[in-house]
Amino acid sequence: MKDTIILGIESSCDETAAAVVKNGREVLSNVIASQADFHEQYGGVVPELASRMHVDAVYPCIDDALNKAGITLDYVDAIAVTYGPGLVGALLVGLSAAKGLALVSGKPLVGVNHLMGHICSNYICFPELQPPFLCLLASGGNTQIVHVKDYTDLTVLGRTRDDAAGEAIDKISRVIGLGYPGGPKMDKAGQGGNPEAYSFPLNHMGDTLDYSFSGIKTAALNLINQSKQKGEEIDLCDFAASYQTHIAKVLLHNLIKASKQTGIKKVCLAGGVSANSFLRAEAAKSGLDLYYPSLGLCTDNGAMIASAGYFEYIKGTRHDMSLNALPSLKL
Ligand code: KG4
Repeated sequence: MKDTIILGIESSCDETAAAVVKNGREVLSNVIASQADFHEQYGGVVPELASRMHVDAVYPCIDDALNKAGITLDYVDAIAVTYGPGLVGALLVGLSAAKGLALVSGKPLVGVNHLMGHICSNYICFPELQPPFLCLLASGGNTQIVHVKDYTDLTVLGRTRDDAAGEAIDKISRVIGLGYPGGPKMDKAGQGGNPEAYSFPLNHMGDTLDYSFSGIKTAALNLINQSKQKGEEIDLCDFAASYQTHIAKVLLHNLIKASKQTGIKKVCLAGGVSANSFLRAEAAKSGLDLYYPSLGLCTDNGAMIASAGYFEYIKGTRHDMSLNALPSLKL
């Protein structure tokens, strides 16, 4: 069978990325220009500045990805691009670049849901992985449990009603002075800490598979403020270990419940928070048949968009030049 080569373009937040992937699973190149160091001085992503930086980086990233794959656009079967969810100005940069390339090359344009992209990182890391499975998708803007019935047939079983898990980690990370991006910094800060030193409330949403992280975040803020008022120092290492372990346990509680309800034991993790070592350690104890992407494929990247683009492309998905950025796109 002829190979299918997809160019994937991603610009939904603060990573400009382009990649070339063969048959949805084999990465020929994966180029990422991260803006994280730049946004660190502001304590978070500044949307307007992110858009401008995407403009500078997008074509060099695409060129680099094609060069590293050793091909030209002629060898690409389709151009896949994230069209949501994300920051609207940031999304528009990648989308406009993809449309321009599709127009001049005559190659099909395939819009990709960024969240589906995260799930597809697992197909790259595990070439034998096939649906059906459950996926815990936890990132900076989303936390949900997805039933992956087939490659493009996805049903959300539960989602956060307020903050995403990544957001809860990033905000507290900033408050305790670790800065941005909070996830990796808090992960590092908690290594070797006592995960039971501090406790946080369990916020289970009744019989549903939904999550809530705002109460946990507020409890952490109160704990920090009360310590300050008493003139006591919190132990950063123990605090970081306790907070992340708690979030990991909350995430896994519903995932295990979903596994029991559906009878599906095969479970993937995806999204930036799936890089978290505390989550991985708790997940390893869960008895689930567990898959998670390599660290570089947990956070935003072009390869996952090319992979998702491949499954959309072989299903027949094609978009025209009217495709617009959808900042609140859902699965
Ligand atoms: O998937 P991603 O790169 O972007 C979104 O689509 O949101 O995820 C970014 C999120 C941020 O909240 C970041 O702090 C978190 O993933 N993150 C982590 C870790 N690495 C990234 N959270 C916890 N532990 C990590 N090691």
